[in-house]
Amino acid sequence: MTFFSDLVDFSQPSLWIAVVSILFNPIYWNIVARSEYRNKTLTKLVGGNPRLGCYGLAVSIFSLGILRDHLYNVALDEQPKSDILHYGEFKLLSAILFLVGSTLVVSSMWKLGVTGTYLGDYFGILMSDRVTSFPFNVSNNPMYDGSSLCFLSTALWKGAPVGILLTALVYFEYKVACLYEEPFTYEIYAKRDREQAQNGSSSKGPTSSRAKKDL
Ligand SMILES: *[C@@H]1O[C@H](CO)[C@@H](O)[C@H](O)[C@H]1NC(C)=O
Repeated sequence: MTFFSDLVDFSQPSLWIAVVSILFNPIYWNIVARSEYRNKTLTKLVGGNPRLGCYGLAVSIFSLGILRDHLYNVALDEQPKSDILHYGEFKLLSAILFLVGSTLVVSSMWKLGVTGTYLGDYFGILMSDRVTSFPFNVSNNPMYDGSSLCFLSTALWKGAPVGILLTALVYFEYKVACLYEEPFTYEIYAKRDREQAQNGSSSKGPTSSRAKKDL
């Protein structure tokens, strides 16, 4: 335990604030998105325009992401640093991880667009086809994987071992979020396809892999 407490200072409030912020974000967007799907909550709030409602949700998720990243940085600054992680090799690894991670995040946002990235399907704004080109050909969840890599990159850059723990928390949380979100969005698209089939138009396979929405 002394080994561990040399590497992580669990008594710092900033650490727990970062943990709460990390846990909060996916819970927030899932609650809001399902409420939108069931009751059109946001769409009603902005006067009946689903696209505007989705942009509003996008702004809130994006802002919460920036706040979370800030709180993560503050937490790491107040944590013990590891001598080993201060080797130049780790700085190089950090830079590579950051490049790969941000490429995954930015390119998936580019491919999906704002409504595709920020839960537009819950607003009834569906993608016409499943995106299978880069970065979706290298990762099922490029937004989540890329975001996790950026967290790890920051941990290595700052040489703070606690960042590796927090990255594991982020990664695990995204895995849980996928288990919760994917069957639901799959069903949204399956429903669309059933309705299209009934109306006699050609059916495209259900889009799934809604892996995104986070920076
Ligand atoms: C993914 O697609 C990109 C171009 O869109 C291509 O350069 C790359 O080789 C592909 N990767 C895999 C693993 O298929």
